[in-house]
Amino acid sequence: MKFFIDTANVDEIKAAAAMGVLDGVTTNPSLAARETKPYAELLKEICGVVEGDVSAEVIATDYDGMMKDAVELAKIADNIVVKIPTILEGLKAIKSLTSDGIKTNATLIFSPSQALLVAKAGATYASPFIGRLDDISNHGMELIDNIATIYNNYAYATQILVASVRHPLHLVEAAMIGADVITMPFDVISKLIKHPLTDIGLEKFLADYRKANKG
Ligand code: G3P
Repeated sequence: MKFFIDTANVDEIKAAAAMGVLDGVTTNPSLAARETKPYAELLKEICGVVEGDVSAEVIATDYDGMMKDAVELAKIADNIVVKIPTILEGLKAIKSLTSDGIKTNATLIFSPSQALLVAKAGATYASPFIGRLDDISNHGMELIDNIATIYNNYAYATQILVASVRHPLHLVEAAMIGADVITMPFDVISKLIKHPLTDIGLEKFLADYRKANKG
């Protein structure tokens, strides 16, 4: 399973990369708006920090505009993946960009039918937003399960990128289903290693060692 970080903050990306388990980055206009640098400048810096795929989102919502944005974004670095909203014009753009050899990430997926369509169009990644479904009392993880079944049934190459992740259990459940990728905020990544029994156990081991080796 690949781990991506969902942020446009370079310090968070560096800290997650230092853990040694980071495979890529996802950004979006809302995340970029929290930073001071312009989006293109930020993306260039991020692509210098991470070797893996870095998702960068188009702003246009019509086919021609998305294609123009995509070409500009793809020029920034070889590891840029163009994030396209899952709307009709976006579907057409995914199809064309795939033919042009540009990697795509279909974003804002909330239904299995949307996921099926973007796989047929050749998207590299499909990003279902599970936390936002949970927020409105729908089972976000059921969507991942359904998409995994559909993609397995037809051996689609599109990778399931679990997005809008809120807590470590989302990772565990997505991994049990066999999702290809998960993108997590830095806060969630930081929590993955923590367990109080590990801390208590370590403290006890060290205390016993000190007792046995005093003097
Ligand atoms: O990057 C897309 C997605 O992960 C956003 O998550 O927390 O804004 O629902 P969130």
